Amino acid sequence: MKPVDIVTLTVNPALDKSTHFKGLVAEQKIRCAEPRYDAGGGGINVSKAIARLGGSSLAIYTSGGATGKILEDLVRAEKIDSQTIAVKSWTRESFVAVDEHTNLQYRFGFSGGKIEDNEVQSVLKAIEDQPSKYLVASGSLNEGLTTDFYQKVAQIAKNNGSRLIVDTSGEALSKIIEVGAYLIKPNVGELAKLIGVEKLEMEEVDHAAKEIIAKGGAEIVVVSLGPQGAMLVTADACEYVPAPNVAKKSTVGAGDSMVGGITWALSQGKSLKEVIRWGVACGSAATMNEGTQLFKSEDAQRLFDWVSK
Ligand SMILES: Nc1ncnc2c1ncn2[C@@H]1O[C@H](COP(=O)(O)OP(=O)(O)OP(=O)(O)O)[C@@H](O)[C@H]1O
Ligand SMILES: [Mg+2]
Repeated sequence: MKPVDIVTLTVNPALDKSTHFKGLVAEQKIRCAEPRYDAGGGGINVSKAIARLGGSSLAIYTSGGATGKILEDLVRAEKIDSQTIAVKSWTRESFVAVDEHTNLQYRFGFSGGKIEDNEVQSVLKAIEDQPSKYLVASGSLNEGLTTDFYQKVAQIAKNNGSRLIVDTSGEALSKIIEVGAYLIKPNVGELAKLIGVEKLEMEEVDHAAKEIIAKGGAEIVVVSLGPQGAMLVTADACEYVPAPNVAKKSTVGAGDSMVGGITWALSQGKSLKEVIRWGVACGSAATMNEGTQLFKSEDAQRLFDWVSK
């Protein structure tokens, strides 16, 4: 197959539904505003972010049942190239509702349905058959999918000569770094778990990331620090970028937007100093929008200019 610059993989995508309501009360009907539907799941969000920056990627994702059909329509509407792997169980949904009285956001997620062995093999084969410069593996795993799934993906990336960018956590992430990735993006809590400590102070982040790099776990570690920004660490460099002060509405999708910004900037041959700034700009721009919406390109550009001053 013709090599592409960026492939994103979403093994457990979601049909995101978001709405508003006035007052959370039990035992009564809660009237919700007209729902908004978005295609969701780590890799698909990364593809959406890349498209918003003017780039292109191939989104490889599983799709099942009626919810899967809606998901496919939504991905198509975003003008993202896609390759779907049909699965028997329905694509999961996620539900985000904001209470207008308190401005609090409630996020309901469902675990993905069971994925069968032959379906897992089809996903792995799709990745194997599609060489790319960058392969982004992001998001949770379906029920029944063992945590070594991403490890297999890491091995395929290695064999294909693709640079693997990973955003996942827990055991799945630990297993990936046994094989090695090009870039991992843990948040500070995920990084602490990865090196087996309870908590990391800001001044310990650089050292913890370097520990992973020294063991060959990754070439680049980007540690996201929520409203404090992010730190990019390599074997011989460390770059901290504080997040700009923005009018935060919802942090849903901030991590995915950051990975989108990072991947796009890398694919454009930008310097690592610019790469981390695009990541922070896209992550922070995502927080300016409600619910499951990602970022507006003009916000990302303006925040990039601001953090580059
Ligand atoms: N409150 C905030 N204000 C400004 N920027 C923010 C805020 N929260 C997140 N960001 C931006 O988004 C980036 C990623 O956020 P965060 O560190 O929360 O990732 P995460 O924990 O992986 O998020 P997710 O819940 O999406 O997985 C940050 O580095 C920062 O640039
Ligand atoms: Mg995250």
